[in-house]
Amino acid sequence: MSTWDHGMTANTVGFELLKKGSPALDAVEKGVMEVESDPNVRTVGIGGYPDREGKVTLDACIMDGDGACGAVAFLQGIKNPISVARKVMQDTPHIMLVGNGAKQFALQNGFKEEELLTDASKNDYKEWLKTSNYKPLINIENHDTISTLAIDEKGKMAGACTTSGAAWKMHGRVGDSPIIGAGLFIDGEVGGACATGLGEEVIRTAGSAMVVEMMRNGKTPQEACKAIVQRIIDRQKNPHDVQVGFMAMDMNGQTGAYSVQKGFTYAVKNDTIEELTEARYQIK
Ligand code: GLY
Repeated sequence: MSTWDHGMTANTVGFELLKKGSPALDAVEKGVMEVESDPNVRTVGIGGYPDREGKVTLDACIMDGDGACGAVAFLQGIKNPISVARKVMQDTPHIMLVGNGAKQFALQNGFKEEELLTDASKNDYKEWLKTSNYKPLINIENHDTISTLAIDEKGKMAGACTTSGAAWKMHGRVGDSPIIGAGLFIDGEVGGACATGLGEEVIRTAGSAMVVEMMRNGKTPQEACKAIVQRIIDRQKNPHDVQVGFMAMDMNGQTGAYSVQKGFTYAVKNDTIEELTEARYQIK
């Protein structure tokens, strides 16, 4: 399963790999890479909205059910941060590399430097500069992260999460997406969860780890996503200004999703289903 409409693309690529017997880690990585590489997706990878200095900075993480994980944050000039995150996971003693260190590591490992600011992004940035008004637009600028959760034929789960972060963010801002436990969390005994939307609220609640803990304590994926959304709403003075969505799957493949308000879609694919669903939401 994957977040948002572009989750259909990630699911198509990922499911093809699962059907060939590939591990869930490959499926989630290659699935979200397809979206990172699409310049028309304006919230992930190349073509993503820049920060307020006109720089595209990317955040991503990947995790499997055994606790292996890797992440990169504030990475510039590399189109597929999810693959750099996987390399961090597999080839270093660390979990997260950021900024220039992450870029240096990527270049040393054969990743190519590319201009990630497309003409469309340059034009949008010029428009934004006219007012320089930072008030994230619900469901557009805060924020259509792609996250994918998958279970392979051996019954192993993995997840991936990748984003260009909030549009017009401060230079150096890192959201929830590369933070294990916030944007993504997997526990092979329970299941996995991931988040999209205003990253600061997801970090504040340790969102994805909390969803998995709630599932461990007996909630269904749907109930757990709803409970964490309610917790976020309860903290807000103006919940109408906030959009956050969660998506979760248990080890039986039972799925759930919930968001603060209308508009969060997620895609599910298995042998019998291929569908895009609008998540239930709390604020009507
Ligand atoms: N959830 C993406 C971000 O806030 O950066």
